Amino acid sequence: MRIFLTGATGYIGGAVLDALVKHGHDVTALVRDNEKAARVAARGGRPVVGSLAEPASYRAAADAQDGYIHTAFDAASGKGAATDRIALDTLLAAARRPRTVGTQTPATRFVIYTSGVWVLGRAPEPVAEDAPVNPIALVTWRVPHESLVLDAATETLRTIVVRPGVVYGGGAGIMGDVFKQATNGLVRVIGDGNNCWPLVYDRDLADLYTRLVARPDASGVYHANDEADECVNDVIAAISPYLPNRPDVRHVPLDEARSKMGPYADALSLDQRVRSPRARALGWAPSLRSVSGSAARLLEEWRTARV
Ligand SMILES: NC(=O)c1ccc[n+]([C@@H]2O[C@H](COP(=O)([O-])OP(=O)(O)OC[C@H]3O[C@@H](n4cnc5c(N)ncnc54)[C@H](OP(=O)(O)O)[C@@H]3O)[C@@H](O)[C@H]2O)c1
Repeated sequence: MRIFLTGATGYIGGAVLDALVKHGHDVTALVRDNEKAARVAARGGRPVVGSLAEPASYRAAADAQDGYIHTAFDAASGKGAATDRIALDTLLAAARRPRTVGTQTPATRFVIYTSGVWVLGRAPEPVAEDAPVNPIALVTWRVPHESLVLDAATETLRTIVVRPGVVYGGGAGIMGDVFKQATNGLVRVIGDGNNCWPLVYDRDLADLYTRLVARPDASGVYHANDEADECVNDVIAAISPYLPNRPDVRHVPLDEARSKMGPYADALSLDQRVRSPRARALGWAPSLRSVSGSAARLLEEWRTARV
């Protein structure tokens, strides 16, 4: 299929690009400069240079695609939510635009939006895709964006919201930060560390996206996590034997963390147990079932990715 992808140079989008290319899809990817264009081309995508905030830079490229996968997020500009809305409006408009005769039938069109589990808020008991949202302050803006996508579904357009857990694998992400701090000898944990993070391996998450593309009956909300219910302290304990030295752990009180990090501190202190039954019903079964169970391998991946 012809797929328009945003965020292909990012953590999630990069894994999604690799998986789509591997499955033989024709991927047009929005990138911000020529150097990133070259990187995406080397991975098998067709780069288009532009910016999410400037629809004119990618509207033409986004036309006449069979599907749209939005994984980009402009965190650095301070306008992430507003830019995300611009991107969604542009991609949904492109998805709805009538096609010329001879192109793919409309029924195969889809839009996949990348949200996250933080819209679920505190979840000490397991929650599935049918749970009501209860977003932490950092992501309240996400809920209307999810609704915008879900409400755009028609008989000829299926729309999907993916809520990944905290992603692990390779050299990036929140777990990459934990590995880095642990390797350097001091991990700062917000709160007592007995809170669980829903987690998902980057390539398993990408595999879910390819399933969602391939399944004409897939629509609505999908959680994506390995369901291991690992607490932050469990992860640190699991990786410690594979480090040159056992790291010190400093438990930072939430108030102190908030004063330094703002509402992101609340995200890192969330206690969540999340289930992904709708994803599993598609045959999705994560190849890695926890960080603790693959600690040595994941640390090696992290070290290799950073060389
Ligand atoms: N990582 C996780 O654990 C996780 C978990 C759940 C949900 N999510 C959500 O998933 C999404 C992607 O996360 P991520 O970790 O993959 O982020 P990331 O690694 O920071 O990647 C962000 C991507 O967006 C692109 N981008 C940013 N601003 C742009 C702009 N103005 N125009 C075009 N492209 C732009 C970046 O391009 P450049 O390479 O040019 O910077 C990059 O490709 C976010 O919405 C995040 O909240 C992430």
